[in-house]
Amino acid sequence: MTFSRRILSVQPSPTLALNAKAVQLAKQGHNVLNFAVGEPDYPTAPIVVERAIESLRAGRTRYTPAGGGPELRQAIVDKLQRDNGLTFSPSQIVVGAGAKEILFHTFLSLLNDGDEVILTAPCWVSYADQIRAAGGVPVFVPVPENGGMPSVDVIDQYATQKTRLFVLNSPNNPAGYILNEGELKTLGAYLHQKSWWVISDEIYEYMSFDVSHTSLLKVWPELAQKFILINGMSKAFAMTGWRVGYCAAPDDVAAMVRSLQSHSSTCVPGFIEDASVVALKAGRPLMEKDIAKLKARRDIAIKHMKTLGGFKFLYPQGAYYIFIDIRAHLKDGDTSLKFSNQLLQEKHLALAPGEAFGAPGFLRLSYATDEATIIEGLNRLHKALFP
Ligand SMILES: Cc1ncc(COP(=O)(O)O)c(C=O)c1O
Repeated sequence: MTFSRRILSVQPSPTLALNAKAVQLAKQGHNVLNFAVGEPDYPTAPIVVERAIESLRAGRTRYTPAGGGPELRQAIVDKLQRDNGLTFSPSQIVVGAGAKEILFHTFLSLLNDGDEVILTAPCWVSYADQIRAAGGVPVFVPVPENGGMPSVDVIDQYATQKTRLFVLNSPNNPAGYILNEGELKTLGAYLHQKSWWVISDEIYEYMSFDVSHTSLLKVWPELAQKFILINGMSKAFAMTGWRVGYCAAPDDVAAMVRSLQSHSSTCVPGFIEDASVVALKAGRPLMEKDIAKLKARRDIAIKHMKTLGGFKFLYPQGAYYIFIDIRAHLKDGDTSLKFSNQLLQEKHLALAPGEAFGAPGFLRLSYATDEATIIEGLNRLHKALFP
């Protein structure tokens, strides 16, 4: 009996595994502080929930068109125009079960065996495994000394004849950086000369606190024929469990992703589509208070880290993570993975290890939790780092 070599190369999501362990320890009665979760701790807005209930009662319980119904795709087109100044047609939009599924289908649509994809470390956990499952080869550009995004010159050292695709994620999970217009111009100029697809994952768009988010496509419209914008409802509207994500892509790419949708999850349920339309039409103002709360928590966390002293990290401008450099604290042979496991077992503190993001030697702290937990968690982490 044999197995798929592609799927054997895939590892289960380490952040979900860590979260599951933390939940299990908490169930056993331990006071676990969980900073591993990648979701907002506040609920979906009531008007969105109400719309779903109404829609269910009205019988929107059947299949909808593969890749998203017309009303939802139009709402996404309108959102991209309003928030991002980008013009797409509904045929260019494909909706699926979360940005995760849409990304997966995009990699499957664009990659052939052995094609290389440039990922700049640190980067979101699922890109590399999805690329491997699609037959591609993830090529990690190592995390620079400051923990941010590597420069174009460094990226270029990892480009080969086999490079087919580049993935950008700003605001970034896990490092929290947001590329400003100048940085986007430099990156866009570089990518413009290459014959690569560009995936721009903008799922944390609304979680930009200090600089506002700009899409690379707005700065470099010439990239349109090779640009796939990824976004979704999970982070922006605290709708992680609803499973709605989308891409805006050149028509031929959208058609391929839609075709894969038609053979996999098919569609987003009608009542979830209706609720998503309400959220998209309301836009960022619907979540402004929650976003302000996240920013306040970021500020509290950073202030407390400064008070405790000794932490090394890149100042996060967006998303809801702090990516802490613990390389100086690791004894010979120790890894951040081992450290993260020990933190959970001994201090009941769950922080995702840098290995999950292609950046060993770091820990990701998600501050999408209450203030008391942030303070107590940082106290425990400080004690573990400075025993
Ligand atoms: C950078 C990034 N992209 C995509 C996703 C997928 O989000 P979803 O599948 O919930 O839409 C996540 C979720 O954690 C993420 O952090």
